[in-house]
Amino acid sequence: MRYRRLGGTDLDVSAVCLGPMRAATKEPTEDAKSKAGEDALRFAIDAGVNFIHSSYEYRTRWMMERVLKDHPKRHDLHHVIKVPVPDFKDGGRFDAAKFRERIEEALRDLHAERIAVLQWMWRSDPNDDDLRVPMLPGLMDDLMEAFERVRDEGKAGYMMPFPYTVASTRAAMETGKFDGIIAYYNPIEMEMAELFEELEERGMGFLCIRPLYQGILTDQRAKPGADDRFSDPKFADDLAKRAKVAEVFAEEIGGSMTGFAIRFALAHPVVASVIVGLNSPAQAEGIIAAAEQKLPSPRVVTKAFELWKAGFGI
Ligand SMILES: NC(=O)c1ccc[n+]([C@@H]2O[C@H](COP(=O)([O-])OP(=O)(O)OC[C@H]3O[C@@H](n4cnc5c(N)ncnc54)[C@H](OP(=O)(O)O)[C@@H]3O)[C@@H](O)[C@H]2O)c1
Repeated sequence: MRYRRLGGTDLDVSAVCLGPMRAATKEPTEDAKSKAGEDALRFAIDAGVNFIHSSYEYRTRWMMERVLKDHPKRHDLHHVIKVPVPDFKDGGRFDAAKFRERIEEALRDLHAERIAVLQWMWRSDPNDDDLRVPMLPGLMDDLMEAFERVRDEGKAGYMMPFPYTVASTRAAMETGKFDGIIAYYNPIEMEMAELFEELEERGMGFLCIRPLYQGILTDQRAKPGADDRFSDPKFADDLAKRAKVAEVFAEEIGGSMTGFAIRFALAHPVVASVIVGLNSPAQAEGIIAAAEQKLPSPRVVTKAFELWKAGFGI
């Protein structure tokens, strides 16, 4: 397993961070999907994954709990959890009790002593920059007081926002209060790449969410079958972009788009780990193997950024 120092922290995290969003049913049941998710989590930890993403919103922690409650390695794991306070319907108000509850429930559900990284989110309704950017300064004092309290109690390590957009990310970076940024990043979602150098200069880390673009950047999505979740016409544009990526990076992709997407996401040194959905031991095995292979040169990131800026030429 490849480990990397997460910028802005003293954490050495596995380059693969397990995301369990689709890895179980939303209610505890005995079913094949949840069993495969449970087996994926066990497999990943055994293979050296020490970084795990989760959220109360996914309602899959019941499955994670089965693995984590008495796992011999549970004290070695670093957890990153979503903390959306204020949430969409909170009218832009920060609620310190709600912030704390998100952490306390995660500590209970994940059988953890500490949450390594709080993925803080400030949401509005509608959730756009016009509301969110001006909202941020008014939240910072209460947020930092609440964070410092749980950090000083030993219950949380670091805080990195998921700011949705570049404008909100810039606003978050300019506060000087966050240890890093968490955002979508893959060859089709390249917005954040323009901030990588500045993140490094500021000594901040970056965590990539959905390196496979939800599964579109995988081998089986070259031609999704009729029963595939990406066969819906609403994914036609995304599949056209995937085809363009396949064409432009044919040499770097070699035999596997899935493997390329993982290696691509790790190519820039500011990206410490990829938060990837792993729903079975076979998926975990493939992704872990891909993350160990030689990484593309940073020039590939620049080339992908140019392709993204050009709208993929479609
Ligand atoms: N706002 C947020 O904070 C936010 C939002 C979204 C996601 N997340 C987190 O990020 C994680 C990843 O997001 P995501 O699942 O949407 O995107 P992703 O990691 O880009 O894609 C994961 C999907 O790729 C496929 N896959 C995984 N390993 C594979 C392999 N070895 N070979 C072929 N296909 C493979 C699986 O789809 P199939 O099984 O369908 O093939 C899997 O569901 C989530 O679990 C969640 O923890 C956070």
